[in-house]
Amino acid sequence: MLTIAVSKGRIYEEALPLLEEAGIRPVDDPKTSRKLILQTTRDDVQLVIIRATDVPTFVEYGAADMGIAGKDVLLEHGAESLYEPLDLNIATCRLMTAAHKDAPDISRRVRVATKYVKTAKKYFAELGIQADIIKLYGSMELAPLVGLADCIVDLVDTGNTLKANGLEPRDLIMNISSRLVVNKAAMKMKHQAIQSLLDQFEKTLAKR
Ligand code: ADP
Ligand code: PRP
Ligand code: MG
Repeated sequence: MLTIAVSKGRIYEEALPLLEEAGIRPVDDPKTSRKLILQTTRDDVQLVIIRATDVPTFVEYGAADMGIAGKDVLLEHGAESLYEPLDLNIATCRLMTAAHKDAPDISRRVRVATKYVKTAKKYFAELGIQADIIKLYGSMELAPLVGLADCIVDLVDTGNTLKANGLEPRDLIMNISSRLVVNKAAMKMKHQAIQSLLDQFEKTLAKR
């Protein structure tokens, strides 16, 4: 049995066509079902539905053989303990700094609200900027509006969320997409099954 960890929402939705090409169609829909383990049309494959930030943890410990996770999440988790064989090129966006549109450029010291604490620390350290990081779990865009931070580090896609809150994108930290990650022991123990799935995904991606 191969267990694949996926998060609900955009990653699940965008991964479905890829899985489908490999003959994997979930029997239940996570939008309506409360089940956390989804059987699929393939007897040898099941999906576990978890929070996006938990995917690397499940795969690292072998609770799932493989998973799909955003590069943002992998950077923050530290991905040395996982194989990352494929860029699936789904859920694409940018990790950026953003600030109030009237706020001055970032100077030598800055207060940053983000859920990407490690990534933000590293980014500002490399620029020689002293950053006081405030960890949030969501709605980062609110922080500059209420005086909690000078800027944020968050994901930007259309830019609509920033705009709706009077913020503007500033600097690009990294282009983000979702990656297939594989547990290192599973890669050895279930090599054939995993490799054939990787080949199928690769074939589908090459056609896009
Ligand atoms: P969460 O509940 O953790 O916010 P999401 O489904 O919103 O879960 O995000 C999962 C992944 O999708 C993120 O780690 C990121 O890689 C990507 N992502 C997040 N927001 C966007 C967006 N607005 N557009 C495209 N991709 C996104
Ligand atoms: C993500 C991200 C930004 C927004 C960016 O939030 O955290 O807030 O998308 O996308 P945009 O540039 O197209 O507006 P998401 O929709 O995932 O909401 P949540 O993570 O706070 O639930
Ligand atoms: Mg989100």
